[in-house]
Amino acid sequence: MANFAYLRLYLTIILSFAVQTSGNIGKCVLSSAPPSWLSTNGTGILEYATAGHPTNGTSFCIEGNHDQKTAHVAYHIDLGSEVLAPESVEHSFSENLGSQNGCVNNNTGVVYCFAICLNETLQNMVIESALKSNQPSVVAQDIQKTTQLDWAITVDYNDPNTHLNASVFLVEDAWCSVYVGIRPKLGFDWLYEIQLGKVL
Ligand SMILES: *[C@@H]1O[C@H](CO)[C@@H](O)[C@H](O)[C@H]1NC(C)=O
Ligand SMILES: *[C@@H]1O[C@H](CO)[C@@H](O)[C@H](O)[C@H]1NC(C)=O
Ligand SMILES: *[C@@H]1O[C@H](CO)[C@@H](O)[C@H](O)[C@H]1NC(C)=O
Ligand SMILES: *[C@@H]1O[C@H](CO)[C@@H](O)[C@H](O)[C@H]1NC(C)=O
Ligand SMILES: *[C@@H]1O[C@H](CO)[C@@H](O)[C@H](O)[C@H]1NC(C)=O
Repeated sequence: MANFAYLRLYLTIILSFAVQTSGNIGKCVLSSAPPSWLSTNGTGILEYATAGHPTNGTSFCIEGNHDQKTAHVAYHIDLGSEVLAPESVEHSFSENLGSQNGCVNNNTGVVYCFAICLNETLQNMVIESALKSNQPSVVAQDIQKTTQLDWAITVDYNDPNTHLNASVFLVEDAWCSVYVGIRPKLGFDWLYEIQLGKVL
């Protein structure tokens, strides 16, 4: 795993951007009602794992190509009676100096962190899980175990050239995503995009 000490994560939230919600990802039909779909399309995904909700249904789907290092994820989010428009988020790395931790967890092992996770208790728990392992499946299971949520959980293990386009809802009780880079005391760094969504 490459060292990403000299890279900076650029996070863009394009607020009024209309996210196109057509197309299919696996069995998930993004045009089906209610219109509370979120999706993530990424390149530079080396590995991924899910937990909390099966991926063979029609409300949580993931498709990846290991050779092309791509992944596509869809979540049919349970917003209750709320009607919300998704926000669009783009993550990519670019050359730069220095690191930044914009999350609530101040563990010195966290060298990069950006969260779209308004529930800070949940955000902290997710980061604690990310610190425990460089294996996405272990982290996904650990998040499920520690949060006890039946939400759909995705953990993407990313390379430093990862590019992610995601749609998100800025709500406390149905969405949480954290982009986190970990530097352990020993060994190589790792970089995760972790997403949790309450699905229908
Ligand atoms: C992300 O969106 C941009 C356009 O906004 C597009 O050029 C790019 O290919 C997309 N990346 C992925 C991984 O889908
Ligand atoms: C999904 O997989 C689980 C366990 O493998 C199975 O119990 C369930 O029936 C499957 N659901 C669908 C919709 O195929
Ligand atoms: C880290 O956060 C905890 C809890 O918010 C706080 O008590 C502690 O002082 C912080 N440590 C540093 C080094 O900022
Ligand atoms: C991801 O790809 C799907 C299928 O092509 C598309 O419908 C969706 O809008 C994309 N999501 C984002 C956030 O760009
Ligand atoms: C925030 O997350 C924690 C941990 O999952 C949960 O106990 C709490 O109820 C959540 N708060 C809100 C407002 O959703």
